[in-house]
Amino acid sequence: MRDHNGIRRILEAPFVPLGQWPTPISAISRSNGVDVLVKRDDLSGHGRGGVKTRKIEHLVGHMLEKGYGSLVTPVGNVTNLVHDILPVLRRFDIAWEIVVADVPPLPLAERRRMFGGLGNNVRLIGPGHIEAAGALAGAYHRSRRAGRRPFFAPPSLAHPAAVIAAARGFLEMVGQVEAMGVPPLQTVFITAASGTAFAGFVLAENLLRLQGHRPIHVVGVQVYPGPARRWIHGLVRWTEHYLSVSDRVPSGRIDLRTTRIYREFGRYPTDLVELCTSVKDETGLKLDPVFGGKTWSIMESCLAQGRSNGSVLYWHCGYTPDWEVVPAAC
Ligand SMILES: Cc1ncc(COP(=O)(O)O)c(C=O)c1O
Repeated sequence: MRDHNGIRRILEAPFVPLGQWPTPISAISRSNGVDVLVKRDDLSGHGRGGVKTRKIEHLVGHMLEKGYGSLVTPVGNVTNLVHDILPVLRRFDIAWEIVVADVPPLPLAERRRMFGGLGNNVRLIGPGHIEAAGALAGAYHRSRRAGRRPFFAPPSLAHPAAVIAAARGFLEMVGQVEAMGVPPLQTVFITAASGTAFAGFVLAENLLRLQGHRPIHVVGVQVYPGPARRWIHGLVRWTEHYLSVSDRVPSGRIDLRTTRIYREFGRYPTDLVELCTSVKDETGLKLDPVFGGKTWSIMESCLAQGRSNGSVLYWHCGYTPDWEVVPAAC
């Protein structure tokens, strides 16, 4: 039997209001003929802006509903998460221990400049997985000993609560595009760092399809090497289970592009800096080359291969200013 309650469950998931929704959609044209819609989550209106606002809203909503009293999570050196989530945790009396791995590697003085003002519970560690696992386990146990129920969130808040947040954003966007009177939405390009936002999009798209909506091709662009494909599949299945959705996204529909490998998290080639500068000069959109610039570049390559007969949308996940302290990889 088809389960039509998934969308209702997404819309009823707990969240704390932080952003200004809906974020606008801009029609953008470049001199090279690229003509796309851009979903401006960079204008989410909370902290540094970005799709992360949606994730924080729902993750904190989930923690409050389930009675968690502290957050334990890892991040890398190039992140907006720490800066955007700490004021929210403080506001809702949730403690935290955030472990900052030295990836991509940066001089200690630079890391202290970026994270030093955020207090002792944002801990700088080395680049290794074993050290990170030890630091996270220590943080978890300290929190328990302090009498707070700790919640461990995987990198980039990759938890069903955050996937649901992104799914809700996708539903918001589909309604907006339909009201714009543009050709029907054909393809959506989204950056896949942990793939949390991408997972939410494919999940929401599947639920819309099951209700008779025309298909929308969701393309995720992997921005650093690693087992993203397996991880994203797992995240989609975990969220389907969490929502008790019985009609699963077919595995073959999860379109993750891995056409270029960027060595490691946070690195980028110099030609992407040029692309981001040119997009900024022509359209005013600010993209960074460690996340969104890669997605924009893959999108332009896809568009160059053939005209699309529907609308194409680039999801602007946000701008991460710290990329400037990371040297180009090639
Ligand atoms: C700049 C930027 N790009 C992309 C993303 C998407 O990341 P993820 O794939 O982890 O959902 C994020 C984080 O949410 C981000 O801050």
